[in-house]
Amino acid sequence: MVRLGVNLDHVATLREARKVNYPSPLKAAFIAEEAGADGITMHLRQDRRHIQENDIADVIKHISLPINIELAIVPEMVNIVSELKPHHCCLVPERVSEITTEGGLNIIEFENETGAAIERLKSKGIFVSLFIEPELEIIEKAVKLGADAIEFNTSLYSDSKTSEERNIQIERIKKAAKFTAENYNLEIHAGHGLNYTNVKFIRDIPEIIEYNIGHSIIARSVFSGLYNAIIEMRKLLRCS
Ligand code: PXP
Repeated sequence: MVRLGVNLDHVATLREARKVNYPSPLKAAFIAEEAGADGITMHLRQDRRHIQENDIADVIKHISLPINIELAIVPEMVNIVSELKPHHCCLVPERVSEITTEGGLNIIEFENETGAAIERLKSKGIFVSLFIEPELEIIEKAVKLGADAIEFNTSLYSDSKTSEERNIQIERIKKAAKFTAENYNLEIHAGHGLNYTNVKFIRDIPEIIEYNIGHSIIARSVFSGLYNAIIEMRKLLRCS
């Protein structure tokens, strides 16, 4: 069965735009749970532009779904998140002035930093995934570093402007997913830029068991409410 992890960062983005105490990511997490989300994802950025430590602590305390925290491979962030002890972490690249995550984590160049972050998080019993490009060499490195899961960056697919481009990216993800499943015991997740239209062309890759989706769900919730936005995405992904 495919899982949907709902990323709540942009609930906090709206709150931080005014530096007030609403809308609450915790309240959003309750609604996500009610709507059948399989997990809650939040990115604790170094600049704290949206999610704060308190949001994570509150959601872990009150929500029974698995909580997935995205973070950079920076020792300070790794220490903070290992103390918060979410169920699951996803290591991502982070550039301070970026609008959103740009590309997969370069675990070949940053092998030592990634390895150290994985070791620290796993020592706290946290399940660790790596947000990577769907490339065979990178998948092999993720295995060598001891990751529990990999999350394929789907942004090149999501940003495709033509059906030819889209097909090239789907084939790239398909090939990487098949290679991983045939050779390794790693969970395969995918996410970034997925929305109510483009998810229809990627949902049929059987090796992908979890999708992490944020911006499009929160955007749709402005018009149809978070509950309905999640139900609709779960239907498209055939989660149940
Ligand atoms: N997966 C990862 C690793 C991400 O960094 C993000 C963005 O925070 C997402 C998934 C969700 O992307 P989007 O908000 O475009 O759905």
